[in-house]
This record gives sequence, structure tokens and C-alpha cells, in this order.
Amino acid sequence: MIYPIVAYGNPILKKEAEEIEEGDDIKTLVADMFQTMEHASGVGLAAPQINKGLRLFVIDSNHMLDEDAEEKGVRKAFINPILLDEYGNPFAFEEGCLSIPEVRAEISRPEKLTLEYFDEDWNLKEEEFSGLTARVIQHEYDHLEGILFIDYLKGLKKRMVKSKLIDISKGKVPTDYRMVYP
Ligand code: NI
Repeated sequence: MIYPIVAYGNPILKKEAEEIEEGDDIKTLVADMFQTMEHASGVGLAAPQINKGLRLFVIDSNHMLDEDAEEKGVRKAFINPILLDEYGNPFAFEEGCLSIPEVRAEISRPEKLTLEYFDEDWNLKEEEFSGLTARVIQHEYDHLEGILFIDYLKGLKKRMVKSKLIDISKGKVPTDYRMVYP
């Protein structure tokens, strides 16, 4: 099932998401999230973006990487993740978000991270991620904390996106996928 994606301005995007009860059957939800993400040609999708305040996100960083890239892409679901550490040289990368169409901005984040999470079979994992996969995880993890990438913008850059954000929240920015507006 393809869910509509919550647009900027909906309060759920600013709320901290809640833990999922361990052992809950989330396979259908995870499959639906992958389907919704792929339908919208996204590389990541967090549950609040489909109007569910749960600590769950899916990513597929394969589409971000060139075929000859050294880094391998990751297609995975992360349940109740805990960001244990971020390290390495911060680098700037242009981010976008399915909830904030047509807005892109360079954001600087550390290169690597260690994450503890459950997979969709409720196996507990601890794993290190780096490069563009780490970047997608950082962006999606922020969604669970109620943080959007545009929250990092300051001054002139912040002012430059303001009118676009108002247009998005009013449904004035057309997308190839279905959205719910505040
Ligand atoms: Ni996003």
C-alpha cells in the first residue's frame, strides 16, 4: 500500500516519535514504507512522514551511488534506532526531503556513525555506517526526533526557503506522488 506523504507544516513532522513495542508485527508497515518510498523515488522515508509517530525508518542508498562507487548501497529498515555515536570529518552534502519538495540545501554532518537498532524480525543490531548511507540515516533519524534538514539553515539561506515552505504547506507545490497538507 502506498501512503500519501505528509507535507511540511504538519505538526507530526515536528514531534518526537514513539518507540514501537518490541515484538509487534511491523512487516506490513515496513513493506508499505518501502513501497511508498520507491513510488516517490526517495532514498529514505521515516514513519512520521506517513503520519505515524513511530520510531521507524527505511532507506535505500543504492540510487545515490554511482555503479563504480567504492561504497555499497544499503536497503534496510531500522526499528527503534539509537544513534550511539557520530564521528569523522563533517562534510557538506545537498539534502532534500519528500515532505519538503523542491527545496534542497547543503548540510554538514559527520562522516560516520554507530547505530543500534532492531531489524524487522526484531533482531538487535549494532552497526557502523559511513558516507552517503550514513547521511541518509542521519537525515531519517532526525525525522524521529522531530528535526527537519531545513532546521539547520540560518540567516539568508533560511530566509530564501521561507516562501517555498509556505507554498508547500498550502499545497501549491505539485509532486509526482500524493501528499497530505496541513
Ligand atoms: Ni526527509
